[in-house]
Amino acid sequence: MQLMEATGIREAFHNVRKHSEHICAPLETEDYVPQPVAFVSPPKWHLAHSTWFFETFILKPNVPGYRVYDPDFNYLFNSYYNNVGERTLRTDRGNVTRPTTKAVYAYRRYVDEQMDAFLEELSDPEILALVELGLHHEQQHQELLITDIKYILGHNPLFPVYRAEQNMVDGRNTETGFLTIPEGIYDIGHQGEGFCFDNELGRHKVYLHAFEIAKGLVTNSEFIEFMEAGGYQDFNLWLDEGWSWVNQNQVSAPMYWHLTDGEWHYFTLNGLQKVEPDAILSHISFFEAAAFAQWKGMRLPTEFEWEIASANLDWGQRWEWTNSAYLPYPGFSKAPGAVGEYNGKFMVNQMVLRGASVATSPGHARKTYRNFFHTHERWQYTGIRLAR
Ligand SMILES: [Fe+2]
Repeated sequence: MQLMEATGIREAFHNVRKHSEHICAPLETEDYVPQPVAFVSPPKWHLAHSTWFFETFILKPNVPGYRVYDPDFNYLFNSYYNNVGERTLRTDRGNVTRPTTKAVYAYRRYVDEQMDAFLEELSDPEILALVELGLHHEQQHQELLITDIKYILGHNPLFPVYRAEQNMVDGRNTETGFLTIPEGIYDIGHQGEGFCFDNELGRHKVYLHAFEIAKGLVTNSEFIEFMEAGGYQDFNLWLDEGWSWVNQNQVSAPMYWHLTDGEWHYFTLNGLQKVEPDAILSHISFFEAAAFAQWKGMRLPTEFEWEIASANLDWGQRWEWTNSAYLPYPGFSKAPGAVGEYNGKFMVNQMVLRGASVATSPGHARKTYRNFFHTHERWQYTGIRLAR
């Protein structure tokens, strides 16, 4: 287990919990509360929900006589677990001004103390595995914290700076050209002792035709060429749903891009900046990725091609859209109860992204990791790798 190898579960727990608060350290109280669109959750909600996860799945069932911090929190901070009862509508998360941010931090303190005492004695491998799932779950919310904070600040007309010292835009490719992978039968899926999510299991064989995959990701300047060539206006390049999305939403540039005095700028966590031509493109939807690939006379790799090629690729700057629908691997099975709701029920109408991004927490990435989003979503650090 990558997270815990060096440190053991107690220290891993503290490190992960502290990291969430480190991400929120630059925020003012007001920044913790809004939900500007349904898919963005308030930072306060992430901090409380990741805490609720430990309270609900670890402490409540395993600590005799455990006193729940506040019985109302189950309703407020359950995300999507139908097995755990009724909950706030996702779209109402931003309306919950109470408990206050301060109260949510107090909730974290309480659960951290209870967890610390519990972990000191813990040796049951099944519960340990659940704690580890809770840590990886919190790391997923850490990435969402960053992208949701970016959305909240990036849709403020003042474009506030999140953290001046943290540069998260200027990632460059270290390599160019294409890698050739020969045809063959390859093994796909997680193997070995380390942690993985259930959706990576069911290691199985796939047959791949020979293919070539780009060693670098598409850069801003390459995407500007597509824009200047009329890419957003040419229906021939777009999937039908993508063309509807472009027109319904009047899309003409990646998310966070603004044309000011004839020059492209974008909002970054360092504030509004001129678009850096050589930096790796980010914040594009699957539809845009597919249209760009079409314009280039190429395509997106499948998730299987990506996994096999990844051993020889530089990755980890952007989540990379693949042309694979998010589906169960052969032999996939859902765990019984609430934990079974973690991944399996989302396996419809979403595409797989591979890799990791600049916002992914340390120790969280794997080459078998299967991220997934809807085809129009682009507030994550998403980019394009071409294949042919
Ligand atoms: Fe969650």
